[in-house]
Amino acid sequence: MIPGASPRHRRAANAPLAVLAAALLLTQGAPLQAAAPADPLRPTGRWTGSAPGAAATPPMGWNSWNAFRTDVDEAKVLGAAQALLDTGLARLGYRYVNVDDGWWQKRRASDGRMQVRTALFPSAATGGPDGTSFLPFTTRLHAMGLRAGIYTDIGRNACSQAYDLGSPNLPEGTTAEREVGLDGHVAQDVGLYFGEWGFDYVKVDACGLADFRPGSALVREHGYRALAPEIERSSIQRTDEHAVRARYEALAAALAGTPAGTGGGTGGGRVLSICTWGTANVRAWGHEVGNLWRTSGDIVPAWGSMLHNFDSAARRALYAGPGHWNDPDMLEIGHGDFDAQHPVEARSHFALWAMIDAPLLVGFDLRSAPRSLLDILGNERLVALDQDPGGHQATLAYDSGEAQVLVKTLVAGDSRVQGQGTRKAVALFNRTAQPLQLTLMAAHLKFADGAPITLTDLWTGAQSTFTGDASFTLAPHEVRVFEARGARLLPRGMFLSEIPGDIHVAEDGVRERQPDPLVHRPLDPWSGSRSGGTRPAYAGWGGAQVDSTPFGLDLQVAGQSFATGLGVLANSRLEVRNRAGYTNFHALVGVDDSTTDRLRGVRFELYGDGRRLARTSALRFGDRPLALDADVRGVTVLELVARAEPAGTGPPPVVTWADAALGD
Ligand code: GLA
Repeated sequence: MIPGASPRHRRAANAPLAVLAAALLLTQGAPLQAAAPADPLRPTGRWTGSAPGAAATPPMGWNSWNAFRTDVDEAKVLGAAQALLDTGLARLGYRYVNVDDGWWQKRRASDGRMQVRTALFPSAATGGPDGTSFLPFTTRLHAMGLRAGIYTDIGRNACSQAYDLGSPNLPEGTTAEREVGLDGHVAQDVGLYFGEWGFDYVKVDACGLADFRPGSALVREHGYRALAPEIERSSIQRTDEHAVRARYEALAAALAGTPAGTGGGTGGGRVLSICTWGTANVRAWGHEVGNLWRTSGDIVPAWGSMLHNFDSAARRALYAGPGHWNDPDMLEIGHGDFDAQHPVEARSHFALWAMIDAPLLVGFDLRSAPRSLLDILGNERLVALDQDPGGHQATLAYDSGEAQVLVKTLVAGDSRVQGQGTRKAVALFNRTAQPLQLTLMAAHLKFADGAPITLTDLWTGAQSTFTGDASFTLAPHEVRVFEARGARLLPRGMFLSEIPGDIHVAEDGVRERQPDPLVHRPLDPWSGSRSGGTRPAYAGWGGAQVDSTPFGLDLQVAGQSFATGLGVLANSRLEVRNRAGYTNFHALVGVDDSTTDRLRGVRFELYGDGRRLARTSALRFGDRPLALDADVRGVTVLELVARAEPAGTGPPPVVTWADAALGD
């Protein structure tokens, strides 16, 4: 179903926001009822969606891993840093220079202090009592106007100690000296990396929680201390999500409590990059703990891998926003299917990452970068798309295995946030190896059908205009990406589906951890066809969605379908920031027709800054949708709560906040 294409959509869009709510139990202005303290749906009256840190927009920069694996050294990293300056990329925002796995020598036996491999990073050889120090290195980067990132693991051992066993740059020494991860050393290492050495960014991997299992050949043959896995890569149910989260929370707390120290770090917060490769249901909690979290396994420079990683993040718009970003992994531009011989694929990879507000971390050796690839990374319009301060990750206006239409609300340059939404970005994506014809509709953009829409091609700058719809022929693997200006379908407000960056999914009602089956399944990059296949792997199925149910179906209540709205499970609480100061809220709410539980009722509640503004009676499967309207003048944070009655233990009913909008 195409958003906004149907007459029903036009009707909803034209209706004033203050629709009368006939069957609604309106309790405007009622004070917040005292709720049981343990009630997870209890409104907080405030925005709880963003971890602290310095990632108001997605981090940009360079990382050593995709270019060098553990064969990293100071000359290569500083060469990349210099190239960021010389090519002008730094000026565009590529600021972080991140050292990945391979930098460490050992954890010193006497006091647990981490030691740098000075054969790779000569400036770290201080000769003093502390042994080594990264301070000269970070000072150098800071003097270049750049920021410095380091890598560690949340467990005892790092990924290279399991997967790069032939590397000459693995940690050395006794079992304890080779325990370079954070386990048991959180305060010490955070104090060292941030307080003393002055790093600004840390990527925290998780192989230490997954791969060093008791009795394994790895542990036996390499003399590691075993750790019963808290992450089982192939089993969501056997993964201890709470233990994993608790470890990252402890780290985040240590980070928050560490003063900048002597390192000359940039201040203003540090960036915490969570690297659990989409496991441990990180989708649901990453945004409350860190600034970015990997949504999938490692990218490799192959088209299918890029699709896989893109898909792992593309349907999670409601979980990202300013300060917290889905991370589909670093860029592979420059390598394999995305090298200078594949300009279409390289541009597509970049455009897709920009559309979904992915971190832009260059992963190739910039010292020998062809101009054509620098032009891709340095395309100011595409970078501005990724860095738009609204932080509204693109959502899927059309979605199939072969083609997608992505639309992203832009706010940069708007004089009033309230005026937002007349500028959007749209990407037409041909996932196949054949040419494909796609029709872009005004409705995809939630723009009015009758008014002209101006497109600016973000690669070429060429402008064109259409009314209603326009056709495009896309080359194999091509993404056409435009800025679009038009008349908004909802002239005096915003559908909540247009502002995912202002929504925080505090509770999504998901009880059962189930893998998301919509992620592209490439030939496994590591085992090829020797395994049983690339299985769906990342929990998230059933999470809150824009313009579809949590399970990817059209929104529909009592036979009435809706082109726009939020789809979520019952027993959920969504926080919505009213950044533009709108005065009205409107939605048509009900139990979605896709629900399997036909008996339980769902009560919908709306709160404004913690005060209950409206509440429905308990609605059941088949009940007509109810209008839920409220005056939200002066309200900064709304909370949308859907409670199943009784709460029950089975799969929660699927609920729809159809046409949900803020407006005047
Ligand atoms: C994991 C991460 C990669 C990289 C390597 C380093 O595989 O996902 O991004 O950091 O570890 O060993």
